[in-house]
Amino acid sequence: MKTAEIKQLYDQYVVPTYAPSIALVRGEGCHVWDPEGNRYLDFAGGIAVSSLGHGHPALVRAISEQAGHLIHASNLFFNEWQPRLAQAIVRHLGPGKCFFSNSGAEANEALIKLARKWGAGQTIGKAGQTAGKAGRYEIISMQNSFHGRTLGTMAATGQEKIRKGFDPIPEGFKQVPYDDLEAVKRATGDKTAAVLIECIQGEGGVRAASMEFVRGLRDWCDRSRLLLFCDSVQCGIGRTGKFCSFQHYGVEVDGVSLAKALGGGFPIGAVWIRQPYADVFEVGSHATTFGGSPLAARAALTVLEVIERENLIDQAARMGDYLAAGLNRLKGAFPKIIKEIRGKGLMIGIELHEEHKPWIKKLSAAGLLLVPTGTHVLRLLPPLIITEKEADEALEIMNRAFGA
Ligand SMILES: Cc1ncc(COP(=O)(O)O)c(C=O)c1O
Repeated sequence: MKTAEIKQLYDQYVVPTYAPSIALVRGEGCHVWDPEGNRYLDFAGGIAVSSLGHGHPALVRAISEQAGHLIHASNLFFNEWQPRLAQAIVRHLGPGKCFFSNSGAEANEALIKLARKWGAGQTIGKAGQTAGKAGRYEIISMQNSFHGRTLGTMAATGQEKIRKGFDPIPEGFKQVPYDDLEAVKRATGDKTAAVLIECIQGEGGVRAASMEFVRGLRDWCDRSRLLLFCDSVQCGIGRTGKFCSFQHYGVEVDGVSLAKALGGGFPIGAVWIRQPYADVFEVGSHATTFGGSPLAARAALTVLEVIERENLIDQAARMGDYLAAGLNRLKGAFPKIIKEIRGKGLMIGIELHEEHKPWIKKLSAAGLLLVPTGTHVLRLLPPLIITEKEADEALEIMNRAFGA
């Protein structure tokens, strides 16, 4: 089918929650193709998902082979891939356990439920620790944050436009200005159970929290007996030059949500929960039919193995510096268009002086796919496997577009 036919069918039968203009039919490495045969450099990366690029042989092999063995059996039965994947995540994040979901929003839902169960005074396994005081359920999150589109994660999300039209919003959430420790302290009350942050806000415009804020937050959570959760759905799995972005700050956190790049495009989400909180959920506390299926878990384990084998976390840091240097040169050349370059590793934002919409269009017409965020920011979320040649190609496309 050609793009026009796909669009016609889509407009007729698909609920219009998105407004795409390009259809994609094939991908290889860092490139994708539309039905008309046009090739694009994919710096949208499926919105921070396609970290191994498209068609990575190890991932294709693992998914094909597992599909032939067993796709799904449910969590009523063990499958070897789920604990092996959990073990690999624990290797990166420290002593704890994982629960598997199918998306980032569901991973965050699990953290929200964990905070509530713990805050309700749940005794924790052998450690016998409780929240100290029952009746805690409130979660403090940040303005401009994004945590998902379910009712709970929408309530945690600090963006009015996401919540508009969906009243009544579930209670138990408070948003404070990002990077403002005093605001977190002021918002903390005797019902507060946890603080949820993205150490680098993605949908909020690629903004990193300061060292003082994250470290101060850890200290405040310790002193006030609050759980500290990191939403690493977008800034996790090596993209920023560490496995998860909170690791840039030298702090420990109590729970982490992962999704997006975890399955390299195969849907899977996860929460890692630090000990002793990993035993707050018991049999029957939380569940999902599909989470951590043999196919999803094997795909994700393969992604983590490839990331380790190909040293992609270091590569993300190195290529991030390379791209940022090139982008800063562009900023110097086009100061009237580019206001600021920011981000970490291969999670980069270009803030423009003008709205991003026409630029997204111009750049995709020139063969470069990017992700818009907010009204003025172009986001670069390329596969972690990009080479200098591909980075140069992207910079050259932008150079020509901005210069035209
Ligand atoms: C930081 C963050 N958290 C959660 C989500 C929600 O993930 P999903 O779309 O898989 O539900 C996103 C999606 O963009 C995200 O960027």
